[in-house]
Amino acid sequence: MSQKTFGKRARETGQAQPGKQAPPPKKDMQVETKARRKVENLGDMLQERGLSRRTFLKYAAFTASLMALPPTVTKVMAANLAKARRQSVIWLSFQECTGCTESLTRSMSPSLEDLIFDFISLDYHHTLQAVSGEAAERARHQAMKENKGKYIVIVDGSVPTRDGGVYSMIAGRTNIDILQETVEDAFAVVAVGSCAAFGGLPFADPNPTGAVPISELVKDKPLINLPGCPPIAEVMTGTLSYVLSFGKIPELDELSRPLSFFGESIHDRCYRRPFYDRGLFAKSFDDEGARKGWCLYELGCKGPVTHNSCATMKWNGGTSFPIQSGHGCLGCSEPKFWDMGGFYKPVSAGLMDDMGPVLAGAAVAGTALGGGSAWLARQHQGHYHRELMQQEEAATSSKAQKSDSKPKSDSKKED
Ligand code: SF4
Ligand code: F3S
Repeated sequence: MSQKTFGKRARETGQAQPGKQAPPPKKDMQVETKARRKVENLGDMLQERGLSRRTFLKYAAFTASLMALPPTVTKVMAANLAKARRQSVIWLSFQECTGCTESLTRSMSPSLEDLIFDFISLDYHHTLQAVSGEAAERARHQAMKENKGKYIVIVDGSVPTRDGGVYSMIAGRTNIDILQETVEDAFAVVAVGSCAAFGGLPFADPNPTGAVPISELVKDKPLINLPGCPPIAEVMTGTLSYVLSFGKIPELDELSRPLSFFGESIHDRCYRRPFYDRGLFAKSFDDEGARKGWCLYELGCKGPVTHNSCATMKWNGGTSFPIQSGHGCLGCSEPKFWDMGGFYKPVSAGLMDDMGPVLAGAAVAGTALGGGSAWLARQHQGHYHRELMQQEEAATSSKAQKSDSKPKSDSKKED
């Protein structure tokens, strides 16, 4: 995080920047901040900083295209974003490696700084927050109290349950305890990364800590799973922007993943697919086939049974993704990917037994899965597009009604 970001956060929290003295306490700082938050929405806030309406449109157009939404949604999304209040987010990290936070900090749109200070209010995050110890726990409780029923809880990492949950504790309390307390008044919970979504590495056989995914412990709140090891940064920021724009969670698949990002398999959109269809497979990582860019199926690629956006969105601002770098997909956004029998063994019905009958069947006919999931995603997206078109029509007709009732000289000033 940049010094500028730390400085800004430090001014808001009264904490010292690394290597510097704490800024002098401002008596009325808290009151001022609260008053500002009361009147501010995102549109006002960005306007204050000299950003135009066009900025919203550009960002909304980008996010809508990432989520495969129709261009007509852009205006609705931009208008909703402009009206949105800063979303309070409490980020809990449990049994994890910090890779998900590392991934988020590499988001290209919006940048981390924009995301934290313009789109969300990151009120608690072990790795990024300036405060520590009791002050950190107070910040979490304060955010929960001030934003009761409205804040979002993001969790990375699985939760150990064996021996009363003693294998991961924060501030003397188990992860189970902190999770249950924090989600109680949350609007929604987002499990980022495969550990939070499906248990991940800690859950892998023999699972010594009794790790479980968040869905095992949170049953009465809307839950979005954003799996991946780690998840793609723009999948995280795009999902948050959607919630911020529309005040609801996006349409999900049967594993609670947003369909717009997880509706298709890697195999559906892989640029090596023409080689798969022609039966041209690399047999080793340094043979002629590998050099010619043939399909990596026989080297263990799990693309046919893995749902994610890597093949289209790619990583690091659209630079590349594992298959483009010459390695098969490990299946990192699917449940139990560590226990699928070996990263370098080709997908087979035997390997996929653990993943349930749907995937096992589809592994035998990989192309059928690709076609089927694409069809399912299109069905869901079709339904979703119709809903958004209706919103757009309603917004346009209400605008037309307003402009009819205005004197003509006023309507010229519009836009
Ligand atoms: Fe691409 Fe893997 Fe499918 Fe081959 S098996 S087409 S490398 S996703
Ligand atoms: Fe993971 Fe496969 Fe993408 S290993 S990063 S889902 S290509």
